[in-house]
Amino acid sequence: MNIGVITESQSDEYRVALTPDAAKALIGKGFSVQVQSGAGQTASFADDAYTAVGCTIGATAKDVLGAADIVCKVQTPNADEVAMMKANSALCCSLNAWKNEDIVAALKAKGIKAFALERIPRISRAQSMDILSSMATVAGYKAVLLAAAQSGKFFPMFVTAAGTIPPTKCFIIGAGVAGLQAISSARRLGAIVEAFDVRPAVKEQVESLGAKFIEIDLGEKDTETSGGYAKELSEEAKKRQQEGMAKHIELSDVVITTAAIPGKPAPKIITDDMIARMKRGSIIVDLAAETGGNTNQTVAGQNTVTANGVTIIAPVNLAASMPIHASQMYAKNLVNLLMLLVTKEGISVHLNDEILSACCVTA
Ligand code: NAI
Repeated sequence: MNIGVITESQSDEYRVALTPDAAKALIGKGFSVQVQSGAGQTASFADDAYTAVGCTIGATAKDVLGAADIVCKVQTPNADEVAMMKANSALCCSLNAWKNEDIVAALKAKGIKAFALERIPRISRAQSMDILSSMATVAGYKAVLLAAAQSGKFFPMFVTAAGTIPPTKCFIIGAGVAGLQAISSARRLGAIVEAFDVRPAVKEQVESLGAKFIEIDLGEKDTETSGGYAKELSEEAKKRQQEGMAKHIELSDVVITTAAIPGKPAPKIITDDMIARMKRGSIIVDLAAETGGNTNQTVAGQNTVTANGVTIIAPVNLAASMPIHASQMYAKNLVNLLMLLVTKEGISVHLNDEILSACCVTA
């Protein structure tokens, strides 16, 4: 069975779906892997590294897609790429089917079995395939680095002959995968870290990373779904959250906000008034920018400097900015999915398998 990997066509995408190591693992399992020339270049994987592990190189996307039984991608293919794919082949990528209806229809029309990696359920058995966790880990880490690079202050405390400099105060809002990684990265840089999440279950995890969990009485007990995600808060609970966080935001040098509600716009939890009270030179990194942002002043993909000199950094596709390790993690997740997906009989759609049935968009 031939797996095809092409150069990602989205302009801000630097990752590649399979690294040479991942391709080697698949070749060891009996697959053949064809990679478009230059596909790994932006992630620092040269064609030679792929041929060294037994991959073949295709000159163009058309060559690779036309020969692949399974196409492995990072981003959703565009219409031209779908047109180049073989009928009845398979596709594994981030599909975001809800906003790519035309592409999903085109895949269906060609009988292509499409598996959306972001739909892999957050269950223990699927942890090794969970691209959302992998990429959130990258984003949480990078968010801290962006803040540290933009800030005019040191993160750690310095005791120098020129005086003692106190550590940066960092407040993390949303302690999911990205938030927890941001906590540990900011701690490693020496910051004093506080965190808040509407899911009280994360208090222990926050504290185990050396941060202080901010307790806010939201007046609601039921803030978490059975799947472990946050629920949208009532207006009253939102108000209580804002009141409870205001002082912490005001006193922070860096705020990293990651609050997301699956399938809904990000909650607007940092108000204009809270930003106006922050110190000049403070930084907000809004990791929820892609789904609308956690502030009203967030402009996705841009750094915005507010009237009182606070910089709001609103990165999009942040995982792509660390393409070597992000590709390595993505590719490992993908290989683990392929091990489940492909059996001796070929590509299976065991719709009674919880993982495959959840991520299979077209069968
Ligand atoms: P996410 O990206 O959907 O949300 C980020 C964080 O924002 C979450 O912790 C959420 O509770 C929080 N949040 C939402 N609204 C908020 C608000 N108004 N104020 C403050 N925080 C708010 O979440 P992510 O990181 O994808 O993971 C969420 C959960 O999924 C995990 O904590 C865990 O329960 C579950 N999970 C399970 C895995 C498994 O394999 N068992 C793997 C990864 C995640």
